[in-house]
This record gives sequence, C-alpha cells and structure tokens, in this order.
Amino acid sequence: MKRLGASGPGTLGRAAAGVLAAAVAIVGLAAPAQAAEPVLRDLAQAEGVYYGTAVTASKLTGTYGSITGTQFGSITPGNEMKWGSVEPSRGSFNWSGADAVVDFAEANGQKVRGHTLVWHSQMPGWLADGTFSDAELRTIMTDHVTTEVTRYRGRIDHWDVVNEPLNEDGTMRAGKFYNQLGESYIADAFHAARAADPGAKLYINDYNTDGTGAKSDGMYELVERLKAQGVPIDGVGFQGHLILGQVPSTLRANLQRFADLGVDVAVTELDIRMDLPATDAKLQQQKAEFKAVTAACLAVARCAGVTAWGFTDSDSWIPDVFPGQGAATPYDESFRPKRAYYGIAEALGWTGGDDPAPGACSAVYAVSNQWNTGFTANVTVTNTGSAPISGWKVEWTWPSGQSVTQAWNAAVTQSGSQVSAVDAGYNGSVGAGSAVTFGLNGSWSGSNTAPAALTCTAS
Ligand code: G3I
Repeated sequence: MKRLGASGPGTLGRAAAGVLAAAVAIVGLAAPAQAAEPVLRDLAQAEGVYYGTAVTASKLTGTYGSITGTQFGSITPGNEMKWGSVEPSRGSFNWSGADAVVDFAEANGQKVRGHTLVWHSQMPGWLADGTFSDAELRTIMTDHVTTEVTRYRGRIDHWDVVNEPLNEDGTMRAGKFYNQLGESYIADAFHAARAADPGAKLYINDYNTDGTGAKSDGMYELVERLKAQGVPIDGVGFQGHLILGQVPSTLRANLQRFADLGVDVAVTELDIRMDLPATDAKLQQQKAEFKAVTAACLAVARCAGVTAWGFTDSDSWIPDVFPGQGAATPYDESFRPKRAYYGIAEALGWTGGDDPAPGACSAVYAVSNQWNTGFTANVTVTNTGSAPISGWKVEWTWPSGQSVTQAWNAAVTQSGSQVSAVDAGYNGSVGAGSAVTFGLNGSWSGSNTAPAALTCTAS
C-alpha cells in the first residue's frame, strides 16, 4: 500500500503522482474491458489525489466489494474503528471489523483513513458512563490511542485523531474529554498517535466547517493554537455532509486558507442529500455539486483527496437520521452509477461523454384471486433506476396455457403464450423508487403456474 508523501500531495507530490498514474493508464489501455466506464481511483491518481469511500466491513463481498475495490483508491471504516466498536468492554477488544477493512484495502492496493480515535460520540458505555479522575481519564484516552494506532502501524495513511471538537459557533464542544481535561486532550491525543505511528498523517475532523463561517473560524483558530504549541497535526478533515442547493460557495477558499496554515486538507465524509423522491432535475444538480466539490479539492494543492460517506444509497446514514431525505451518494441502491458519479469523473478529467440516462424497472406478478376456470393477477412495476421513467413494458410467457381475458391500467396483448403489457399512458411516468400496478383477469385449466420471470423495460 502506498502512503502519501512526507509533505502530503503538495504541488511536487501531485505532479509526480500524475506521471505515475499516466503510465499506469497507458498500460491500462491494453485492457479493453476498462475502456467504457470511468474508474474514479485511476482518474484521481492521475490528478495526484485519492477518491475514497466509507465502507461497512460486513458488506465487502459481491457487487459491493467489487465496486469498492475497483473504483476507490482509499477506504474508511464507517463505524468499525470507533472506540465503541473496538473496546465494547474495558480491556476487551474486538478488532474483527477494523481488521477486515484494513485487510481488504491491502488486498486491493488502497489507502486507509482511520476513523476515529477520540470523539464525544459512539464511546463504549463503560467509558461514557464511567467516573474517572482527570489523570485516569487522560491515561485511558492516550492508552486507547496508543493501542489502536500501534495495532495498525504502517498500514493507515490518515488517522482522524480527534473528531468533531467544535460547537456550531466555533467554541469548544462539551464532552467527556473536554469537560474534564480541557483543550489539552487534543494535544495529548495527537502526541500519542504520532508516537505510535510516526508515518501516519494525523487529522482533526469536523462537519459544518466546509465553508467559511463561525465554526470554520473556530477550527482555523484551534489549528493555529495547536501548531503554535508544536502539536503534531498534519491535516484538517472537512466532512462535507452537504444539502442539495446549499454547497458552500466558499469551499475552495476555505480549504486554501487552512492549507496556507501549513496543513493538508481533505474532504472526508462527502454526501449531498436531497428531499425524496429524487427527480432527474435534482440528480442533475447533485451531479454538478459532486463535481464542484471534487474540483474545489483539486484546486488546492494540499488537498489530499475526497471520501464519499458511502458510495451507494443503500449504505448511507442519511435516511435513518433525516427521514424523507436521501439519494445522497454517487450510486443508487442497486449499485448503478448515478449522474453524480459522472460528475466526479468529469471533475477528475474524464471526457468519455454524457452519463447514460439511467432507466430501469422491475415487475412482480401475484395472483390475488382464483376460481375454477379463472383468476385475477396484479403486476407491480417499480422504477429501480435513479431517474424518473416515462414509459414501461412488461413481458412474460405463460407456463401452463393461461390466457388473458381482460386487463386494466395497461395495454395487454397475447400471442401464443407470450404476453406484452405496455403502460396505459397516464401511468407511464414513474419516479425513481416509485411503483405502479396493473391487473388482469385470465382463464386457466389444469394448473395456474405463475410465470417464471417477467422482463421489464423502461423508456
Ligand atoms: O450495528 C447495529 C445493529 O446491530 C443494530 O441492529 C442497529 C439498530 O439501530 O444499529 C446498528 O448500529 C448502528 C451503526 O451506525 C451501524 O449501522 C447505529 O445504531 C448507528 O447509530 C450508527 O450510525 C453511525 C453514526 O456515525 C453514529 O453517529 C453511521 O453508520 C455512521 O455513518 C456515522 O458516521 C458519522 C461519522 O463517524 C462522523 N461524522 C458524521 C457521520 C454521520 O453521522
């Protein structure tokens, strides 16, 4: 696994990375299978940055694992390295999820962002609810940092050493460590991490610091103080939990002012949520906004890379925490790349053409009533794509001599055992994730076996 250069991907490091990736890309041209779709990790590498994703360790197989390994140059465990995950009971460790993520990254030549060592949230109960003297708490914290960082020494590129230390107004957030130890808990955590793995880049990470403002100013001043004290801080993470239409216009300038303090910067948890349902207009806007965030990172020489907080809408925290919102990641719930994916690729220099309009549907058949010679069946047509569709057609083959006698909500024709059902006009438009139903009466004799498979075509 490669590690970022000693000074991070600054101007020199990024140029050198570009030459390396260009050479790799030329070799890659010999493989025809790679020609059609952009590969984000290769495009990013050619620009001297990484494009990463948060992952769930237990899902790293099948399609999820294959997209993770193919498309992303860096992975971050979404939960598996948090204190509550690794030390649920005091002195009793569970490294299985964290190990799985690091092993996966090494098998796939990926960087790892370690997330996160000291945070006010997702602490184990014994720690959150325990009563400790100040000295004891400080030792518990630095021992934790030492234990976890040492375990993965040499295998982690960035550690989020301290996560979310600030209030919205830029003051220090109250929490277990700040309340008892004051701001010095941050310096102690960074010193412990540096001692345990001198090669890892050490980050402080927060949300709502992406654009300029009070909270970002608070982070700026905190980093200034830490640098002045000689605290070994290498980078600042900007989580980037953004809302469609509200991407800060000051993002690039904000990243730059931190870089000018002498630290690397990174977008560490990018998602752009929207009110559901996701219309194509919203997905187009989201594409432009993913593109803009990626471009902002590229415009800042000390921006190390961008990490999406989950690459698929099926593995995103948004719907659980913001009911009615979602569609915040670059892939839909069925692992199809959304327009946002092409926006990222375009920002990274891809010129392969327009993103395909994703239209897809599925159909489910169910008999609702049956009598001696006849039956009623309903077919549910679901738009499984990430954009609205304007029409649909469902086709199937009767397995046991059935015949359609009447239909509603669709134009149904039968030829031999082949049936074709086309939308009725008024129900052809179906939003992403939405469904419509049509019905039919049929006749049967002998048996009334359901069709083995229905084909749904969207237009
Ligand atoms: O694993 C359990 C499962 O066994 C149980 O059935 C289920 C029932 O609620 O909970 C599961 O745990 C959940 C865990 O995610 C794994 O899915 C927790 O309840 C849930 O609270 C936890 O949420 C995580 C959240 O941090 C906690 O604050 C999200 O996945 C994770 O994406 C999110 O990530 C944070 C970053 O670490 C810091 N920045 C903000 C970001 C979003 O909140």
